[in-house]
Amino acid sequence: MEILGLEVPLWVSLTTIILSLLYWYGTSTFNTFKKMGVPYQPAYIPFVGHMIELMTTSMSDHQEKYAKKFPGKVYGMFQGRTPVLKVADAEPVVEEDSISDNSIVSTTSDHWKHVRTILAPTFTSGKLKQMYPVIQRCSQRFVKHLKSTEGAPIAIKDYASGYTMDVIASTAFGMDLDVQETTDHEFIYHAKKFFGLPTDDRIITRIKSFFNILSSFLLSKAIRNFLGLFVDMSFSGLETLNYLEGLAHAVLDQNKDQIERKNLDYSRFNQKGCDANAAIFISAGYETTASTLQFFFYLMAVHPDIQNKLYSSILEVADEKGECSYEELKKLEYLDWCIDETMRIFPIGTRLERVASRDITIKGVKIPKGMTINMSIYNMHRDSDYWTDPNTFNPDRFAPENQTDIQQYAFIPFGSGGRKCIASRLALLEMKVVIIKSLTEFRYEACADTPKLRELTFQDLAIGLLTPASPTCFCRTKRIRIICRLL
Ligand code: HEM
Repeated sequence: MEILGLEVPLWVSLTTIILSLLYWYGTSTFNTFKKMGVPYQPAYIPFVGHMIELMTTSMSDHQEKYAKKFPGKVYGMFQGRTPVLKVADAEPVVEEDSISDNSIVSTTSDHWKHVRTILAPTFTSGKLKQMYPVIQRCSQRFVKHLKSTEGAPIAIKDYASGYTMDVIASTAFGMDLDVQETTDHEFIYHAKKFFGLPTDDRIITRIKSFFNILSSFLLSKAIRNFLGLFVDMSFSGLETLNYLEGLAHAVLDQNKDQIERKNLDYSRFNQKGCDANAAIFISAGYETTASTLQFFFYLMAVHPDIQNKLYSSILEVADEKGECSYEELKKLEYLDWCIDETMRIFPIGTRLERVASRDITIKGVKIPKGMTINMSIYNMHRDSDYWTDPNTFNPDRFAPENQTDIQQYAFIPFGSGGRKCIASRLALLEMKVVIIKSLTEFRYEACADTPKLRELTFQDLAIGLLTPASPTCFCRTKRIRIICRLL
């Protein structure tokens, strides 16, 4: 082939054309934000965009860095060649009718709407009241196991994880397991694997949150092992609390015709329904609550005055065993503020993802249907435009007289809108129960190795959950002299 008078072999021409086309395709979205008039971080590597940076930086560091660079709170980046609009503005974006592909739960919109409708009544006051004694029993085990470590340094996260797994196992599955008996219980082992901490795994799991299809291959074995433990066991426990079994039956009934028509194996279908919903509940409910508890106890250890104030308020309501009735929990207002303030400083879900289901306008920016929008929760919760002295732990900012200062969407630890955390009330209940119980028994204290609040650094877990970077936090209780370590 002759080009500009030069003889060029055909294969060279074809390769050049293919590479040019690939380059064009791999970068063709990189001018999206320029066209929209939105400030953005330019990307140069075809198909990769900012993936390398996103995979190697923790989400919290990432959000902090770009908050400084883009003070307008709305900017663009590229996950691969997909343009993603980052929003750190307390706007009702999350209220938009949308689907959520990369958030904690990944299911299609229609399927999840159905699941959500069936599950929503599970978390009414009446149902939570039924769960209360079961949760109290789990909290007694938490305290018992913590007591048994007298004097020895402990990783509080291990105990908190055992507790939250125990609560899910008994409330969602009706199984009385006591996974707290040992910190390396099989369930915890598989859960840890699922939420993978080692660096290599982290990179894989980070990839997971960007490429859903790939992820199902990479994680499927870990998930299968983990879920298998739950689902292989009979669902024979506490009937009334076993809400996932009820859900599986409801899904089954709804699909009865289809199963009969296609002559499908009833039991396998049932198993599949349970697997899917078990996955949702374990992944969304276990690590989130355990990590929040971990941060809560850490904050108590480094703020002894606040811990004392909370302890005094607990004594007014709970008995000497750290127990009170379900109704009396309402009286523990200061506890509510302390938990809220913990979730403000340490929002476990650092970001929310939405896909615009129609053209919308946010802060004067026209966002086309189909664009991925990423809400930077971590950043909003620590933004000095919304919070006075945002890096200070101050539960009083949630006192009723100060609530008017809080902008509605500046505090969304459980998300907001149609996909808001379905079990936020259960999460709050299980945290309150174990906090009341354990603060009655123990006093958490910082020791020489405990990092200052402002020195804490983070690493992300599989699905971008906020986690301290290293096991450097210590706290101890006075009465039985326990040393705790944050993981
Ligand atoms: C402190 C504890 C928890 C925190 C901070 C938390 C936070 C969140 C957040 C940020 C979302 C995404 C909301 C959105 O996209 O707008 C979410 C969704 C969800 N959470 Fe939680 N969560 C917690 C505990 C739990 C527990 C204990 C369970 C179950 C037992 C649970 C089940 C779910 C489910 C099923 C969803 C998906 C809702 C949907 O997509 O419709 N979460 N959670």
